[in-house]
Amino acid sequence: MFETLSALAPDPILGLSAAFKQDSNPHKIDLGVGVYKDEKGNTPILDSVVKAQEILLAKETSKVYITPQGNQGFIDGMLDLLLGQHAPALIENRVAAVQAPGGCGALRILAELLMRVNKDTVVWVSDPTWANHIPLLGDAGLELKTYPYFDKATASIKFDEMMDCLSKVGPNDVVLLHGCCHNPTGADLTKGQWQELVKLAAKVGFLPFVDTAYQGFGDSIEEDTYGLRLLVENLDEVIVAASCSKNFGLYRERVGLAAIICKDSDVKKKAQSQIQSVARGIYSMPPSYGGALVDIILNDESLRALWVSEVDAMRNRMTDLRQMLVQNLDKQGVDKDFSFINSQKGMFSFLCIPASQVQQLRNEHSVYFVDSSRVNIAGINKGNVTALAEAIAKTL
Ligand code: LMR
Repeated sequence: MFETLSALAPDPILGLSAAFKQDSNPHKIDLGVGVYKDEKGNTPILDSVVKAQEILLAKETSKVYITPQGNQGFIDGMLDLLLGQHAPALIENRVAAVQAPGGCGALRILAELLMRVNKDTVVWVSDPTWANHIPLLGDAGLELKTYPYFDKATASIKFDEMMDCLSKVGPNDVVLLHGCCHNPTGADLTKGQWQELVKLAAKVGFLPFVDTAYQGFGDSIEEDTYGLRLLVENLDEVIVAASCSKNFGLYRERVGLAAIICKDSDVKKKAQSQIQSVARGIYSMPPSYGGALVDIILNDESLRALWVSEVDAMRNRMTDLRQMLVQNLDKQGVDKDFSFINSQKGMFSFLCIPASQVQQLRNEHSVYFVDSSRVNIAGINKGNVTALAEAIAKTL
């Protein structure tokens, strides 16, 4: 039966890790998969997570099933974090939510839910967007279209073109937005641009679908919710997929949240039952462990403060790494102006070089990053930045 299947090319992002592992060059540099790394190239377990693990170990007495909805303490903590503790939508009890297996799980659950609402739903995604958005949403059956977002020639957002395109979408269409730290470009909307976008959403009627996977890696945990909160404050309906992989460093534990802001609590009740049934029909219930850790951290004042300081430290380090890369490229005398890297946010930047040069960097210098020219800033350190800048200079 299975002989009819064809073998697929490696995943454009995860495939890089496998290729990197096989490379015997001792000076190889990994700027591929989006995971945070410290100065030594390790992805550490956060201290707040270590402490939460100790608490969980001492208090967990059973491994019995949790519900399809997930851990309520986790859900409430995450909704506060995303929408603000006093968000009217929360007070008015109009937010349906489930704990999801990672941000990917959240995206897929919401995609399945959109299919239940209307099989002909069109979802507009930014050009470019995170490569895995396409199968996560498209394989659920949704039709995907793209709106202009980033101009590689000028390394900036094509805001006017984006707005022009979104002004013509249908009132039942869905528009996928990156809450902060746009993956793959690192180019985020300004506050003024978010304000214009919210007005457009209200006028056209499209449903904003906010994917927020890097809260705290842009400006701060609070500031990175600016766009999302503005949408929720001004529109009746918004859907949100959130991930705890990066900001809690819980990558392998698969912790995320899928939330639907509804127009009233009656609709919320229906949406809650549907989203739980979607979860039950795919994987029954989310893994418990990571959500339990986030619940402990967010609901303990001192652990929460420790976690906030750890997120701040990761963000500040990545800001320094951006500056270090730009300075080192300058030192190499490259003609191209890479100063845009300093104004981009989060874990990623687009180097805005062609795929042929990305491949040349991989083949001739063992520098690994995505063909689109997306680099994981967190993979840079004091020990590899000179070699990296030299390799880029030689390749350009
Ligand atoms: C990335 O964009 O590199 C990360 O989100 C990891 C992934 O699953 O692609």
